[in-house]
Formats: sequence, C-alpha cells, structure tokens
Amino acid sequence: MYIFIDTADTDELKSAFDTGLVDGCTTNPSLIAKSGRDFKEVIAEICEMTPGPVSAEVASIEHETMLAEALALAEIADNVVIKVPLTWDGLKTCAALSAEEIQTNVTLCFSVAQAWLAAKSGATFISPFIGRLDDTGVDGMELIHDIRALYDVHGYETEILAASIRTQEHVEQAALAGADVATIPPKIFNELLSHPLTEKGLDAFMADWTKTGQSIL
Ligand code: E4P
Repeated sequence: MYIFIDTADTDELKSAFDTGLVDGCTTNPSLIAKSGRDFKEVIAEICEMTPGPVSAEVASIEHETMLAEALALAEIADNVVIKVPLTWDGLKTCAALSAEEIQTNVTLCFSVAQAWLAAKSGATFISPFIGRLDDTGVDGMELIHDIRALYDVHGYETEILAASIRTQEHVEQAALAGADVATIPPKIFNELLSHPLTEKGLDAFMADWTKTGQSIL
C-alpha cells in the first residue's frame, strides 16, 4: 500500500519524505487555508519535493470553471493530481480530465454507489473518508472493503485512496482491506513506528551492549 501524507505543511512533508517511505501527498482547501500560504506556490513546492502524485483540489462547483481551474493546476507540474468533489459536475470534470490523461482524485466519497460512478468517470483515485463516516456512527472501514469488492468484481482500475484517517488502526485496517493508498496526517504517520516494547527492548540491548565494553568499529 502506498503512503501519501495529508498536509500542506511543507516542513512536515519534508520530514516525512526524508524517511524514504512516502510516495505522495494530498491537500484540500482546508489544509491550504491552515497553511496560510499561496495555493499554487505550495503545490509547486510540494511537487519539487516528490516525483509522486500531489493532489490539488479545484475550488469551484460548476463544471466549466472547475475544468478551467483543473487545467491551470495541471500546468504546475506533471505530478499534480486534480481533486474534484463527488458531484455530477465533479464527475463530468473528472471524465474530461481523464480523456486528456490528466490524473484525478475524486474526493468526499461516502458510499459504494459514489465510488462506482467515480470509477465509471475514469478516476485515477477515489477517496473514501473513513474518519468522517465513523463520526456519523457508520463503520468507515466497511466502505473500503465494499469498494475493494466492487472494483475487483468489475475490473475497475481506479485506485482506492483511504482518506480521513484518524488513527494508527485506520491505517492498518485500510491496508488489510485492500486500499491501494492511505493518505495519513503527519502526526499519525510519525506514530506508526512507535511501540513501547520496541523502545523498551532497544534500551535493554543498548544497556547490555555497553556492559560488554566492546566497539564494532
Ligand atoms: C484527503 O484527501 C482528505 O481531504 C482528508 O483525508 C480529509 O481528512 P479529514 O476528514 O480529517 O479532514
């Protein structure tokens, strides 16, 4: 499963990319607002940090304007992926971009039917929002399982990008459910490595090694 980082904070992104384990990035209008920076400037900077997919979301709701915005964003770099909302206009824009071989990420997916329509529109990625579904009392992970089954049965190539991830368990369960990608907030990404027994075990090994008085080099 590929790892994308869900942020527009370039300092956090740099640390994540430095691990060598991160494959791309997703942003959305809320994350851009939080960064306080110019949208296109941030996207250009992120695209220079990685050759992987970098999602940039359109900011209008009507097809013609959405398409114009998408084409402007696609000019920034070859690895820009255009994020469109799961609306009829968004899907129409997705189909038009797919025809031009511009990569797309259909966002705000909350049902199997929506994921099916996005695949039919030629979406490169579909983004089911796990955490926001959990917030409503519905098991968000079930949606990942169901979309995986639908895409496999019908041979859709759209990649499942597990989004709205809130916990380490979300990442693990999305991987087990067959998501192609998880987009992970920096804090959760950093926590993925931690386990108290790893830390305790390493402390014990280091203490015992010191007792030997040896040096490897
Ligand atoms: C990613 O593409 C989404 O925009 C993001 O994961 C949404 O996460 P949130 O529900 O925590 O805002």
